[in-house]
Amino acid sequence: MEHIAVTRTPHLPSLPVDPSVHPAWLPQAAFAPLGSRRVAVAVDDSPVARTVLAEVTAAVAAHGGESVAPGAADVELALRPDAAADPEAFTLTRAAGVVAVTAADARGLLYGLYHLVRLGEEAFTGADGTWTIAPHTPLRMLDHWDNIAVHPVMGQVERGYAGGSIFYDDGAVRADLTRVAQYARLLAASGINRVAINNVNVGPLETRLLDDLLPDVARIAGVFRPYGITTHVSVSWAAPVRLGGLTTSDPFAPEVQEWWARAADRVWAAVPDFGGFVIKADSEGQPGPFAYGRTHADGANMLAAAVAPHGGLIHWRAFVYNHQQDWRDRRTDRAKAAYEHFAPYDGTFADNVIVQIKHGPLDFQVREAMSPAIAAMPGTRVAPEFQVTTEYLGHQKHAVYLGRMWSQLLGFPYWGTGGRTLADVAAGRHPDGDGTRVGGLAAVSNVGDDVFWTGHPLAQANLYAWGRLTWDPSADPVAILDEWIGLTFPDAPAVVRETLHAVLDESWETYEQYTAPLGVCFMVQPGSHYGPSPDGYEYSPWGTYHFADRDGIGVDRTRATGTGFTGQYPAPWCDVYESLETCPDELLLFFHHVPYTHVLHSGKTVVQHVYDTHFEGLERVLESVRRWTETLDAFPADLADRVTERFAEQVRSTTDWRDVINTYFLRHSGVPDAHARQIF
Ligand code: GCU
Repeated sequence: MEHIAVTRTPHLPSLPVDPSVHPAWLPQAAFAPLGSRRVAVAVDDSPVARTVLAEVTAAVAAHGGESVAPGAADVELALRPDAAADPEAFTLTRAAGVVAVTAADARGLLYGLYHLVRLGEEAFTGADGTWTIAPHTPLRMLDHWDNIAVHPVMGQVERGYAGGSIFYDDGAVRADLTRVAQYARLLAASGINRVAINNVNVGPLETRLLDDLLPDVARIAGVFRPYGITTHVSVSWAAPVRLGGLTTSDPFAPEVQEWWARAADRVWAAVPDFGGFVIKADSEGQPGPFAYGRTHADGANMLAAAVAPHGGLIHWRAFVYNHQQDWRDRRTDRAKAAYEHFAPYDGTFADNVIVQIKHGPLDFQVREAMSPAIAAMPGTRVAPEFQVTTEYLGHQKHAVYLGRMWSQLLGFPYWGTGGRTLADVAAGRHPDGDGTRVGGLAAVSNVGDDVFWTGHPLAQANLYAWGRLTWDPSADPVAILDEWIGLTFPDAPAVVRETLHAVLDESWETYEQYTAPLGVCFMVQPGSHYGPSPDGYEYSPWGTYHFADRDGIGVDRTRATGTGFTGQYPAPWCDVYESLETCPDELLLFFHHVPYTHVLHSGKTVVQHVYDTHFEGLERVLESVRRWTETLDAFPADLADRVTERFAEQVRSTTDWRDVINTYFLRHSGVPDAHARQIF
């Protein structure tokens, strides 16, 4: 019997395992079922293929299995190439005691291997059969809002709640990128295949990633490559001025076009499989084409032409709105902005432009309406954008699992129940499209240099779930959570699973209960976006108002009497949201201004609903803490300490939310709580 020896692949990489960092969903024990078997791997010599081999070699070495030659008689698991249309898809076959994973190339084999890890022992003992598994969309992306230099206000990772950046020390790309390699491995095992490595707010130092810092980009890309992950960079619209010394960034100026073409040549010379540029233009003070009287299509298409010869992509963000609004101006509605700026240009964006649109028309709120812009561009490649980092959802101090929220958003039927969804649009299946406009899914990462990766150890579940949902948006989010628990705590007693489900399954709904009610949005502390401040944004320039007075609250976005935002939706939603009769309770204050005594479909008044949910929200958090405290000994001590510390802060903060919001509604409405509970 011929054994696969490491000498067959002289450059077999060692797996990036740093014992001082939490292994997240890839602890060694998760590889036991695979690693205790006789495994044959037949692969080429590509970087990803070497990763497949390295995984198998490490697993069998740790768990007593064996690497055997492809074709050996007693193989229990075979990983081998086979023809298939999608290079990332794989086929799993279980027959007569042998499990085979086949794929067109090594990326599919790597995904197949991690699929086996997820299935555990079941992968080898389940019923015979054949399953072909392919990703929902080829673009499954994480954006890092990491700065190379520590920003004086935002810190190193903008909206980062897990320490510094895994890519950068203050001022430079890290010399040791082991953490990045570990991260790449975790991402590959969850399904992510693209990463943008710097903040969309691009500072002067970060602009140099296109220039003298390119060797660092190449180093990072080299770390992601073996895991099938393509590297992207966020660029500044002003780069030709900042870096190139030009006097203009006008997309119609030949010298600007030429500058970008040369920049692209440089980037792809350094990183031949580079992904492309992400850009935030004319957004919250970032420069953009508006300064030259040009449209976003003009800007995007100019960049697209520069990267097209290299097969590159432009992710052009649609987060464009007036952030210097006069709060007295009642006609301007920020919610309408993305649609107004982008929908008229549908069909005019180049083939390699992807318009990246936040899932909500405001900004990653705990509950807001769906962005109508996502449904308005059948002739454009669209990537809806999400946030894994919890800017408005508790800063990874609160235990909030986002899988259920994302699942609801991904499955939102823009054209009515049973029809095409947000996830369909992302995959190029807009009902009025020709099927070729494949966009993707993007989200802001929640990872930092924290020993648990995500500050709150339970926030790892969000990173895992994001990857899994980009691969399969129809997957059950609680089943994904269950999968994460099983991988992360492989030998744990049943009570660990029960506790984590009790704490996390409905934690998004709990968070909604104790924060901004009924889709009203933005009752947060300005700037940090942590903790309650009901009027914090009310007289600000940011366009995020709720118009509470003594009689009522909410934003009238109807066509009949309000801003007309409801008219941006296709049927049936344009009418469902327009009418008080049919508008869902949870979005009532997003679409309508109503008296505090307005009766919801639930039968309660608005104000009583606010009181009840806020009291109940804290009760639910306290119940989670009770469950946690009862069972914390079943968890690893360092992790238990961290979670316990976070829970203490969550209880403090939730109490604050409950009392501030309830008091605000009591003082404005003058309506007492029907149950006479304490409100201040
Ligand atoms: C939010 C967030 C900013 C971020 C911006 C964006 O406004 O608070 O930190 O830069 O979104 O998405 O560009």
